[in-house]
Amino acid sequence: MDKFGISVAISFAVFLTLSSASPIQIHAGFELIGTIEGKIFVMPIVGPGSNNLTFQDAVSKCQSAGYRIATLESQAQNDMVEELAGRWSWIDGIDLLIPDVFFSINTGKNLTYTNFLEWNRPVPGKDDRNCIRISCTNGNYCEWLDVNCNDKYSVICEVPVGI
Ligand SMILES: *[C@@H]1O[C@H](CO)[C@@H](O)[C@H](O)[C@H]1NC(C)=O
Ligand SMILES: *[C@@H]1O[C@H](CO)[C@@H](O)[C@H](O)[C@H]1NC(C)=O
Repeated sequence: MDKFGISVAISFAVFLTLSSASPIQIHAGFELIGTIEGKIFVMPIVGPGSNNLTFQDAVSKCQSAGYRIATLESQAQNDMVEELAGRWSWIDGIDLLIPDVFFSINTGKNLTYTNFLEWNRPVPGKDDRNCIRISCTNGNYCEWLDVNCNDKYSVICEVPVGI
């Protein structure tokens, strides 16, 4: 084998090892968005109803596959998901207790990280925009927006830690 042939053979062997060693089997109907900071983010593959979920539907959709709705906890997690998701999607966070104080339905605690844009923050006061959608269209205008929980979007899920 020449030098090139050997390096191709080695790369292929490494690829096979990595792919067969992956401990994560993505549930049918879902695709991997990416992994970062110890988290694994997935979302429904585009198909009938995949972009047509209320917030409640979205929570159920993740749970139906053993996932949970994604809590984006840092700028790095947010940026990766926003860039790669490509569709308007629900993420964890509702403000039903205190207007515009969003808390995680996964942890019951206030969100410590948010990515509302300065000019598009939740308007203070009680309203019916109690859930959070991430939007990112071709890498532009990436932001969180508080919207009505009955609107219909896709969802970002995460693999619960410890599975
Ligand atoms: C979206 O959801 C609504 C209400 O649940 C339903 O009537 C409609 O047929 C759905 N559309 C698609 C494309 O799944
Ligand atoms: C969440 O934040 C609000 C407003 O700052 C505060 O009143 C509330 O106690 C906090 N909740 C928790 C669980 O820390």
